[in-house]
Amino acid sequence: MNMIKILLGTMLLLPVIAVAQQAVPVYKNKKSPIELRISDLLKRMTLEEKIMQMNQWTYGKNANANNIEASKNAVKPEIGSLIYRSINPVYRNEIMRKAMEESRLGIPILMGFDVIHGYRTVYPIPLAQACSWNKTLVTQACAVAAKESRLSGVDWTFAPMIDVARDARWGRVAEGYGEDPYVNSVFCVASVKGYQGKNLSDPYSIAACLKHYIGYSLSEGGRDYRYSDVSAQTMWETFMPPYESGVKAGAATLMSGFNDISGIPASANPYTLTEILKKRWKHDGFVVSDWGSVENLIPQGFAKDRKEAALKSFMAGVEMDMVDNVYVENLQQLVKEKKIPLANIDDAVKRILRIKFRLGLFDKPYVEELPEVERYYQPESMAIAQQLAEESMVLLKNTNQALPLSKDVKQIALIGPMVKDSVNMMGSWEGQGIATSVETIFAGFEKEFNGKAILNYAKGCHFEGTDETGFEAALEAAQKSDVVIVCMGEMKKWSGENATRSTIALPAIQEKLIRYLKKAGKPIILVLSNGRPLELGELDSLSDAILEIWQPGIAGGTPVAGLISGRLNPSGKLAITFPLTTGQIPTYYNMRQSARPKQGGYQDIATEPKYWFGHGLSYTTFTYSKIKLSDSSFKKNQKLMAEVEVTNTGLRDGKETVLWFIADPVASITRPMKELKFFEKLELKAGEKKTFKFEIDPMRDLSFPDANGIRHLESGDYYLVIQNQKIKFELMD
Ligand code: BGC
Repeated sequence: MNMIKILLGTMLLLPVIAVAQQAVPVYKNKKSPIELRISDLLKRMTLEEKIMQMNQWTYGKNANANNIEASKNAVKPEIGSLIYRSINPVYRNEIMRKAMEESRLGIPILMGFDVIHGYRTVYPIPLAQACSWNKTLVTQACAVAAKESRLSGVDWTFAPMIDVARDARWGRVAEGYGEDPYVNSVFCVASVKGYQGKNLSDPYSIAACLKHYIGYSLSEGGRDYRYSDVSAQTMWETFMPPYESGVKAGAATLMSGFNDISGIPASANPYTLTEILKKRWKHDGFVVSDWGSVENLIPQGFAKDRKEAALKSFMAGVEMDMVDNVYVENLQQLVKEKKIPLANIDDAVKRILRIKFRLGLFDKPYVEELPEVERYYQPESMAIAQQLAEESMVLLKNTNQALPLSKDVKQIALIGPMVKDSVNMMGSWEGQGIATSVETIFAGFEKEFNGKAILNYAKGCHFEGTDETGFEAALEAAQKSDVVIVCMGEMKKWSGENATRSTIALPAIQEKLIRYLKKAGKPIILVLSNGRPLELGELDSLSDAILEIWQPGIAGGTPVAGLISGRLNPSGKLAITFPLTTGQIPTYYNMRQSARPKQGGYQDIATEPKYWFGHGLSYTTFTYSKIKLSDSSFKKNQKLMAEVEVTNTGLRDGKETVLWFIADPVASITRPMKELKFFEKLELKAGEKKTFKFEIDPMRDLSFPDANGIRHLESGDYYLVIQNQKIKFELMD
């Protein structure tokens, strides 16, 4: 009797259970595996809804509150992604609520923003970061940027930029990690780790985006958006490695470039986007076009109209269309006409949804609504900003130990347009940084020399133009001082996107000012703030010492003053070569050997650049022992250990970075003169010795790619190169 009751009861309950199950579809069930959730959701979506996921929309041109308020109403709840310009988590949640509650399926919107070197707490520009050779610090800085972003409503950054850059006329050199593929790879991985954390679903992780895939930095003449002629060999040797490393590190997304790669634009290139990225590297996230780069196929002469542009970009492997609406307008029709198979649409949508699921957006679409004081400028973030700025600054020149300043200095002239500047110190792509929070060089000096020396300030001149009316006051300041610190350089708008310059020299007025100040007969210390390597011209010979501070971000003042006073010891080294003149471009350390090594130099100037990649001085001295190898020959399946003992032979503690290069003098495909394979930065107390080690792994360090990206490992002689040493070893079969 009881059994019958139970059975009857259970049967009555069955429909209720079924309804309850229906009420929570698989895609909304946190416990279901992500791939099942994606398939379940996809099955429920109409073609129109799918295409909406591939559309990225943007707010108006700025973060003005009215603009945002108006745009919020215009945001369609079904939109896939939004370039999110507000810093207000409340807005983010309001917009997200539209998507979650007003769209049929409640798919969260992915909010993207250019967090390039910090969000509100602005760090040094990426080019500077590379000069720190400190990947841990870079990871920490990116993690702070990610947290500030997430707390402000951003889920996705369009960073890192890993375009190996060798033409400094191109303004975007500021945004990447310099001229070397290995350095770009290392910092790419460091930043992806920082942004994405251990897991994309961690509360403060944001998705990274490797950009601009690929070859963009070869734009002809450094002119932005132009044709880039990239041979397959160069593509594989120079441009692919950072992307491959980033994909292996789990970067969620990539951005396809504006550039035309040898005839097939980057945003419609099936070889790079599908063959390599999706098939060979098995990337399972998605590709977003650059701003309007789908539509740009028309002026590039690759598509006759927007419809053809949509077809070509989509079929090549661009899943999300940034802001030009070409996909929403055309994909449906293209599917109807059977030019685009539904399976491709499904694959694209799955990739986008996968990142949203991995970020945990379906389960936790809203962010905490904390006040700004709890989101930005936290003491630990500021400490990282200061440390990274310090380590990225490079002492280029120090004649007669002009630096650090002697303790006898009682009056310091601080001259130049950078001294009290806060806007340009941030550099381009400053995220949501605000100039009033930037510590100027002047403020740093005030703190550093408080009660120790008098500061005599004069602006002298502006960054450009011909106005010399400030020269006289500057000379007076110089005359009454013991030393003259001249702070000059570039405005932030001179680098970044669409910021090409025909010369990498500073405007003549700046050199003229220094020449004028020479009359005072005092030592001249040049502090340079810029977003690219510069042609220094006479600025170099007119200065006793030069400190390159790049665009150091929010906390640059203290490190500049500390390095000049000697409280801090410089440890940055160049991640990009300073050519002697603009005409020397391209000059980078890993060029190939010439057919006639002793000929072919410039007739009118020296052929050597001014400061090579890897250059950077310290206030202490480091002495290297002879390199020791565990053997003079080894086999392809073995490893070789190299060691060098470095001694801090000076009187100060300092940090040294050992750069390990490999040279392969003869190969079936010619090799660069030398290639960086490993680096390590360590602190050494005065008098301390440390052993730096590099384990040579033949496949990783001695092989090279061919024009198809297939790696070859050839037996024969190689050289290991550090500083001025070169040691031969043999690789046997
Ligand atoms: C730039 C990208 C940037 C995007 C979104 C484009 O113009 O080339 O680097 O991420 O805009 O702001």
